[in-house]
Amino acid sequence: MRMRKKRHGNERLMALSALLYPETAEKWIPSCEVFGNDRPLKLEVGCGKGDFITALSERDTEYNYVALERVADVAVCAVEKYAAHRGLGHLGVHGGWQNPEGEIFKNGDAWDIPMELRGNARFIVGEANDVITLMPDNTLDGIIANFSDPWSRKCNYEKRRLTHPAYLENYKRVLKPNGTFSFKTDNDILFDYTIEMLPECGFEIVFMTRDLHASERAANNIVTEYERNFTEKGILIKMVEARPIK
Ligand SMILES: C[S@@+](CC[C@H](N)C(=O)[O-])C[C@H]1O[C@@H](n2cnc3c(N)ncnc32)[C@H](O)[C@@H]1O
Repeated sequence: MRMRKKRHGNERLMALSALLYPETAEKWIPSCEVFGNDRPLKLEVGCGKGDFITALSERDTEYNYVALERVADVAVCAVEKYAAHRGLGHLGVHGGWQNPEGEIFKNGDAWDIPMELRGNARFIVGEANDVITLMPDNTLDGIIANFSDPWSRKCNYEKRRLTHPAYLENYKRVLKPNGTFSFKTDNDILFDYTIEMLPECGFEIVFMTRDLHASERAANNIVTEYERNFTEKGILIKMVEARPIK
C-alpha cells in the first residue's frame, strides 16, 4: 500500500498507544492480561487501514482480536478508525487526538484510555512472522489475511507472500486444532498458489470459492478496503478457509 508519509504519524500512534498490544522482544504477553478476560483470540495479518477489524470486532464480540500491520503510517489509520468508531474521539485539526471530554493528546502524550472503553481489538505495528514467532503453540482461534500482496515468483519474492510455507508453518503452530486460517484475494495466481500450499503445509481446506459475493458466505462477509476497490472493477473475490491438521 503506497501512501504519503503521515505528518506526526508516531505521535498519533503514541496518543492511542493504549490500543496497541503491549510487546516485548522476547516474550508474548498472554491476551487475558491485555484484555482482562479469557475470550479466544483471533489475529488479522496485514490489516491495512482497519475497516475489516473495526467491523469484525464490533460484530463478533465473543472474540478478542489483534490486528497486525507492518507499515506504521497505515497502522495509525487503522487504530484511529477503530478508536473513532468506538466513540473515543477524533483526530483534531491541531494534529492531536481529541477525546470525548475535549482533552487533546499530542507531542508524545498518551491517553490512558480506561480499560472498559478499549474494546476487544488491539494493534501491533510489525512484521507478521516476527510477531507470530513469539506466540506459544495453540494460541489462536483464527488467523485472517485479506488481500495480501501477491509478490511475483519471478524475482524470487515468493517468500514474502503471506501464504508461503514459512508463514503457513508458523500459522499452523500457533493455531488451535479447531482454529481456522481464512484468506481472501482478488488475485488468481496467488489464490492457486495458496490452495496448493495449504495441504502441503498440513492444512485441510474446509471452504473454498472463486466468487465469494455469489457464495453461501456472502451474507456474512465483511468487505475490506481493497475488496471494495476490486469489486467495483468487476474482479471476482476468491476465498479459502482451512484448518490445521494436528
Ligand atoms: C494490499 S493491503 C490489504 C489491506 C487490507 N487487508 C484490505 O483488505 O483492504 C496488504 C497490507 O498488508 C500489509 N502486510 C503485507 N505483508 C505484511 C507482513 N509480512 N506483516 C505485516 N503486514 C503486512 C501491507 O503493509 C498492507 O498494508
